[in-house]
Amino acid sequence: MYKKLFIPGPTEVREDVLEKLATPQIGHRSKEFQELFAAIIPKLQKVLYTKNRIFLGTNSGTGFMEAAVRNFSKKRILSTICGAFSDRWSKIAEANGKEVDKIEVEWGKHIPTEEIDKALSTGKYDCLLYTHNETSTGVMNPIDEVAEIMKKYPDVVWCVDAVSSMGGYLFKVDELGVDFILASAQKCWALPSGLAVAVISDKAIERAKEVPNRGYYFDMLTFLKYYEKNQTPTTPAIPHLFALNYQLDKIIDEGMENRYNRHIKMAEYVREWAKKYFALFPEEGYESVTLTTVENTRGISVADLNKALGERGKMLSNGYGSKLKEKTFRIAHMGDITLDEIKELLSDIEDILGL
Ligand SMILES: Cc1ncc(COP(=O)(O)O)c(C=O)c1O
Repeated sequence: MYKKLFIPGPTEVREDVLEKLATPQIGHRSKEFQELFAAIIPKLQKVLYTKNRIFLGTNSGTGFMEAAVRNFSKKRILSTICGAFSDRWSKIAEANGKEVDKIEVEWGKHIPTEEIDKALSTGKYDCLLYTHNETSTGVMNPIDEVAEIMKKYPDVVWCVDAVSSMGGYLFKVDELGVDFILASAQKCWALPSGLAVAVISDKAIERAKEVPNRGYYFDMLTFLKYYEKNQTPTTPAIPHLFALNYQLDKIIDEGMENRYNRHIKMAEYVREWAKKYFALFPEEGYESVTLTTVENTRGISVADLNKALGERGKMLSNGYGSKLKEKTFRIAHMGDITLDEIKELLSDIEDILGL
């Protein structure tokens, strides 16, 4: 049975977007492809408020997380950990043989900017890994604060995981001054999984030129070479690119600010609901606008709840990983989901649990 997805990825994809995936194929070295690529990039630049180059990868977000550690550090990486995905980035860096130091906080808490500042002021690091929206805990880290301190560190390449916030949160990439910000298609972009987007600064490109052993599939200089020709280094997920091009028109029609405001409204509504019947898991003031992690204060069976919701054609997410699986559950309000759909979900939950 079809289930509407209220999980933090993959998210619901509209019928009209799905139809674009069935567009007849074109060769990836053809003029038509170059036109498609050349149509997509300025639209992405518009909604992300950037003039920087944007690379499109046929991979999930994790691929570009690996690209970051592989391309932008020749010295030592500072990683910041506040949950499962930020922890993964640190492990990816280690798995690539990089020198990594960590700032780690308890799950549910945000990354304190002053600790980043203190660590960077030692001069030991040339790359910072920062997770904007930690999908496991529902914490949204204060990226504006980090943008301020990063002005003091021109030699540090600042990499941001925006996997579960880009396309929903209003990123003014150039104002923030982020060097590499990446996301997957299957979250706030509301596209099927299999495609990733990364905005890359000139500084990050210059750094890659100094770093040996960047690997092959994720060598950012190869991406650059093909980008200049409106192409990708290898055969991309062409169906996704047709869908992305179409979806960007829809996002521009909605307006990126309106899209962000819709996310805020949904988040506020879910938070109020969660506080009434349960509690919020993230530290106050750092709750995500794209998903809400609810603390399971009533000790309900999340699996049973999801089973009952499934019979009504809906699905939410249990907590992430063994640490949070039954202790929390997650409601995603990202992508093209509307406030009315959220209200319907919450009223179904109330009905099922007899709240
Ligand atoms: C914050 C965050 N980072 C990274 C990832 C990994 O993304 P992907 O599964 O697209 O590789 C996820 C996936 O949920 C995520 O939420």
